[in-house]
Amino acid sequence: MPIGFELTPDQKELQTLASKFAREEMAPRASECDKKALFPEDIYRRAFDLGLMNLNVPTEYGGSGLALLDQCIITEELASACGGMTTSILANCLAIQPINLGGSPEQKERLLKPFCSSYHLASFGLTEPSGGSDAAALKTRAERRGNHYVLNGQKCFITNAPQASLFTIFATIDPAKRDKGICAFVVPRDTPGLSIGKEEDKMGQRASSTATVIMEDVKVPLENMLGKEGEGFRIAMQTLDSTRTPIGALAVGIARAALEQASKYSLQRTSFGKKIAEHQSIAAKIANMTIELDASRLLTWRAAWLVDQGHRASLESSIAKCFSSDAAMRICDEAIQIFGGYGYMRDYPVEKYLRDAKLCQIYEGANEIQRQVIAREFLKRFA
Ligand code: CAA
Repeated sequence: MPIGFELTPDQKELQTLASKFAREEMAPRASECDKKALFPEDIYRRAFDLGLMNLNVPTEYGGSGLALLDQCIITEELASACGGMTTSILANCLAIQPINLGGSPEQKERLLKPFCSSYHLASFGLTEPSGGSDAAALKTRAERRGNHYVLNGQKCFITNAPQASLFTIFATIDPAKRDKGICAFVVPRDTPGLSIGKEEDKMGQRASSTATVIMEDVKVPLENMLGKEGEGFRIAMQTLDSTRTPIGALAVGIARAALEQASKYSLQRTSFGKKIAEHQSIAAKIANMTIELDASRLLTWRAAWLVDQGHRASLESSIAKCFSSDAAMRICDEAIQIFGGYGYMRDYPVEKYLRDAKLCQIYEGANEIQRQVIAREFLKRFA
């Protein structure tokens, strides 16, 4: 398909649907959910009903079956209303992608169809208390016993864990084997031995829930292992190759909201006898924010397009996620600066954008890891 920037009629329809839902249903609740750390399950159910959840699940298994670019278009709209709610809505895509990538047709039929037939949440379990960046060093053990594996260990910072009914869990048969020992499993919530720890009290994205998952002698049947023994690490990395790009789109949505608020304010607020937008220092900020937002969206769309064309886009996905989230922090920071003292107050929306954007630099691989991936992938061209 040639490169183009005009959205198709279908994409415009999706964008309008997501934008309306974001504006009319998510945005009015965003501040309260942030202040009280509420998990607005009715909004997530509504997202499911509208087809805005399970975006990456093929339609034959009950999902929306959307291309990654379409997912990014939706994500930007949702995140412009609330970053935290968007993370909870997107978490199913992250948790389910290992099944899309590593599951057999029988597993997809058995696991995805009932999951997608009604509202359910799923969680992706890779990160552990002892470390998240070095994924191959995970410690959760998977011990084969007859026709099942027994899992023991802990996963931390797991999005939607308190409400999830399904978990994709990465565990090792031998930590000494690093990536070659890692296996991927699908574990239903009601499996004996699986429990959820205390919910985290987060700085931002407070409408999403985050908790530890504890596994004590959790028996998982062989038929719930995705791929073969030792293929779990590759499945996790390939999952992240496609889910980091929507995090770029999520950052774009938050940053866009911050820029829109700051722009409107700069045209209303006056100082020294004119609108503050007419002061060069403020106009320059608006210009820089606009440039960074545009670049972020283009990088995100490029990465999504490459994935949709079937390319391995580790480099471009990491660039999109890293640049967009760093840019979102700068844009949100400048939005607060344009609002001055008001921007620092919770009565105005901009300080929330900054707190929400911060997580985009950390989750789905800290930006330090993205830079490691970018450098490694780029240097391969000269090796
Ligand atoms: N696709 C396919 N295969 C890949 C791959 C990819 N993208 N990346 C690596 N591999 C393969 C390699 O080719 C290699 O295989 P061979 O030995 O057969 O060649 C194997 O996997 C090991 O790769 P590396 O040597 O590159 O592995 P590493 O140990 O050096 O680590 C890393 C690489 C990129 C730093 C990885 O550890 C990483 O991505 N860490 C960050 C983890 C992360 O992003 N966690 C996020 C958790 S989810 C979350 O945060 C979401 C949420 O809550 C909402």
